[in-house]
Amino acid sequence: VFGLLDGSLYSAMSSVAGHAGSIRRTFGSQKLLKTENVWLLNPQFAGAAIMPSTLKYKEEIYFFFSELNKTARVDEEPYRARIGRICTVDEGGIKALLADSWTTFMKARVMCGAGNTQQQYNNMKQAVVLTAQDKRAGVLYGLFSNAWGRTVICAYSIEDIDQAFSTSKLKGYSSPFIGSRPGMCVRKNSTAGGHNDIKNLGVIRYHPEIEDVIRPVGVAPLDLPTDDQITHAVADIVLAVNDEHYSVLYLGTDQGKVLKVLHSSEGVFIISQYSLFHNEGPVLNMAIDSQKGHLYVGTAMEVQRLPLADCSRYGDTCRECILSRDPYCGWDRSRRKCIPIPPGYNRSTSPREVLVQSNTSIFLPCPVRSFHATYRWVKDNCVKNYPCLFSGDFCVLGPAIDTPLKEGVFRCIATEDGFKVEVISFRLVNDGRLLAASLASTLGPSILLAMATLWLH
Ligand SMILES: *[C@@H]1O[C@H](CO)[C@@H](O)[C@H](O)[C@H]1NC(C)=O
Ligand SMILES: *[C@@H]1O[C@H](CO)[C@@H](O)[C@H](O)[C@H]1NC(C)=O
Ligand SMILES: *[C@@H]1O[C@H](CO)[C@@H](O)[C@H](O)[C@H]1NC(C)=O
Ligand SMILES: *[C@@H]1O[C@H](CO)[C@@H](O)[C@H](O)[C@H]1NC(C)=O
Repeated sequence: VFGLLDGSLYSAMSSVAGHAGSIRRTFGSQKLLKTENVWLLNPQFAGAAIMPSTLKYKEEIYFFFSELNKTARVDEEPYRARIGRICTVDEGGIKALLADSWTTFMKARVMCGAGNTQQQYNNMKQAVVLTAQDKRAGVLYGLFSNAWGRTVICAYSIEDIDQAFSTSKLKGYSSPFIGSRPGMCVRKNSTAGGHNDIKNLGVIRYHPEIEDVIRPVGVAPLDLPTDDQITHAVADIVLAVNDEHYSVLYLGTDQGKVLKVLHSSEGVFIISQYSLFHNEGPVLNMAIDSQKGHLYVGTAMEVQRLPLADCSRYGDTCRECILSRDPYCGWDRSRRKCIPIPPGYNRSTSPREVLVQSNTSIFLPCPVRSFHATYRWVKDNCVKNYPCLFSGDFCVLGPAIDTPLKEGVFRCIATEDGFKVEVISFRLVNDGRLLAASLASTLGPSILLAMATLWLH
């Protein structure tokens, strides 16, 4: 199920009648490698993703799968959801140990369910990763089912996963590590083969599983208000008009519907729901064509195409356009229409960026140039207005009840004789954020997302 990377072909084969299933490098100039059979228990693969790094030798591939214990008792859960990872620089072990096998394979248990309750979804059916370019940050979405066929989506922070693989104890191994940690991506060193390297090979061979368990952000599955079962999921990163990145999930259901879902630190928001098909068969497949801006949705009988930026469905007012929270769309002031954000749209124009520490009070000044005009502040346009806290030469917006002076774009608007102008605008950015481009930021609990949609100029 995988693909080519730097001229090498990586593949993950699920276990089928009589075959164990494996993760392999099957073609290319690098050494051809495989997993040891004991590392994987009847794996059923759900997806794979490259974890980029600015340091090429630290590049990894993550594999997502479920393991099936065929001898589990009827009262036991036979499935375990897993993440496995390998380093692409891996060149195998030594003649006596892991000669044709990965020396960087490690795996972790993935939980999807509420906290430590028994209500767990252990069978990972599908996995999608959104990452920023060159950054080890982002989000993994997994589609899971339980023994009764109920399905949920869990979201995981890639940084959490990375951290677990780099710091966790290894299952069944309690001695301290000597020299470098086993399984980490290291440059091929001509003097390799020393005593410690061999010891590390032994550690990985017999203890590839980490002790830490990967848990979802928000410690529970996404709270999706639907009774349909989810049959397929794809995801997209969208750079909205306000220069923030948003995760949008498209979820196909057993009733032939498609839910378009915005996921942020505040939870999930259903942007829209489509019933596309004449026959209500389950959605079996979906694919995003980012270049053309289309989503393809297939059932057993039909295939349909949807625009990703389906902005005309949000009505004819700015308010409706913005309340849709669809990050693909923006309000075009001159045409008075909700439109897709044009390619090449320059998001880095007006607002001045202000870094705010989370515990400091901030005041935003707006110079008063005409005493005949009325001044007010708006956040995320046409949704909320805020009065001047005090005025004189400046209409000042400051901390007050109901004034969420956190992240977002704040604009000072002057109105005179029914004529409106924007005097000044600020974009408040939480200091110490890592996010914007990283997306992981959208998962930080302390960060409030701005509304997705702002004015287009
Ligand atoms: C599978 O389940 C059986 C029954 O509980 C157990 O004895 C066995 O150790 C399990 N196998 C693995 C590889 O966990
Ligand atoms: C290669 O190994 C030698 C000897 O163990 C060590 O001094 C050197 O730092 C290593 N080089 C790299 C790039 O890891
Ligand atoms: C966007 O606008 C800013 C400010 O006017 C300008 O400095 C920048 O070069 C523009 N970027 C692009 C890609 O046009
Ligand atoms: C804000 O928080 C930082 C770190 O938590 C602390 O050092 C600083 O004293 C706080 N400032 C105020 C004004 O409370």
